[in-house]
Order: sequence, then structure tokens, then C-alpha cells
Amino acid sequence: MKIAVYPGSFDPVTLGHLDIIRRASALFDKLIVVVMHNVSKYPMFTAEERMHFLRRTTSGLPNVEIDGYSGLLADYAAKQGACTIVKGLRAVSDFDYEFSMALANRKLNAQVDTAFLMTSAEYMYLSSSMVKDIALHGGKITDFVPEEIENEIYRRVRKDG
Ligand code: COA
Repeated sequence: MKIAVYPGSFDPVTLGHLDIIRRASALFDKLIVVVMHNVSKYPMFTAEERMHFLRRTTSGLPNVEIDGYSGLLADYAAKQGACTIVKGLRAVSDFDYEFSMALANRKLNAQVDTAFLMTSAEYMYLSSSMVKDIALHGGKITDFVPEEIENEIYRRVRKDG
């Protein structure tokens, strides 16, 4: 069985992530989308909330599982018996960072390769920070996030504000 993991902060999941999830799920027997911690970020949503958003938006994809992990990605991939880490590339500017991460992950776990999917053109500019910024300032995020979670994001942002 070919198992892949798709890691990220997913704070929150966007249509760009969902596009990668759909396409990667067609390439592997099982795709595990794993909510992880990025040391340089302070998430707005808890890990449970981020996993809940992902579950709601991927319920129609039978070979996709949602999980959370607070350790190293290379260890998580080994534990799951994954052969591949999937990442989305949005622009040339993503490349240096992603290249270093892929090399480090391979050094830490020689059994795992990183495969990059090019983000679809309509989501090249999108990021989770952009979605949060727009919602916090009262804008509409309809074109950026899956519709199942749009209202939950507004409710949560209003509660904080
Ligand atoms: N479409 C739209 N937006 C996308 C996208 C796509 N296809 N792919 C990524 N993005 C956005 C994300 O929303 C994110 O936005 P943000 O910066 O506003 O939050 C941004 O692009 C960067 O995404 P990414 O590079 O995937 O970073 P991340 O923070 O989501 O994930 C981890 C990074 C969690 C995978 C990484 O920190 C990690 O592996 N942590 C675990 C610990 C570890 O093993 N560290 C050592 C690694 S060598």
C-alpha cells in the first residue's frame, strides 16, 4: 500500500490546500493529512479545530485521513510507513525553503521522499494568513476557504474580536 503524508499548519485549511489534497489522494492508496507545529508560527485555531475543519472538508474523500502530531515530520512518516511527503509549491519563492526541508527530512528518514505538486494557478497567491487577515477585518472569505467551514471561521473570529 502506498501511503503519503501531507503536513502543514492548516491554520485554517484553504481551497489551495484542498486542491492539493484532492490531487494527491488520487496518486496514493492512502493520504494522511497531518496538522503539525511550525516553530515560527503562533496558530489562531487550536490543533483540534484545525483537524475538525479538515475532517469536514475532506469527508467525501474515502482514502484521506486526518491526524495531528507534535513531533518531527520524519518520525511521523516512519511511524505511518509512508513512502512520500506531499507538499504544494505556490511559487519560485517557496522553493528554497521547501528544498531545505525535503533534504533535512530525507536525512532524518532515508525511507521517505518529498513529492511536490504545483498549486493550481487560481490559488498561487493564497495563504492561511491572508484568509485570517481578511476575516479579522470583516471581509468575505468565500472564494478562499471550503464553504463547509466559512461560517465557523467567521463565528470564531468574531468571538475572539
Ligand atoms: N495553496 C494555498 N496556500 C498554500 C498552499 C496551497 N497549495 N500550500 C501552502 N500554502 C500556504 C499555507 O497556508 C501557509 O500559509 P501561512 O504561512 O499563512 O500559514 C504557507 O503557504 C506555508 O505553507 P507551508 O510551507 O506548508 O508551511 P506550514 O506552516 O503550513 O507547514 C510544517 C510547515 C508544519 C510542515 C513544518 O513546519 C514541519 O514539518 N513541522 C514539523 C516539525 C519538523 O519536522 N521540523 C523539521 C522539518 S525539516
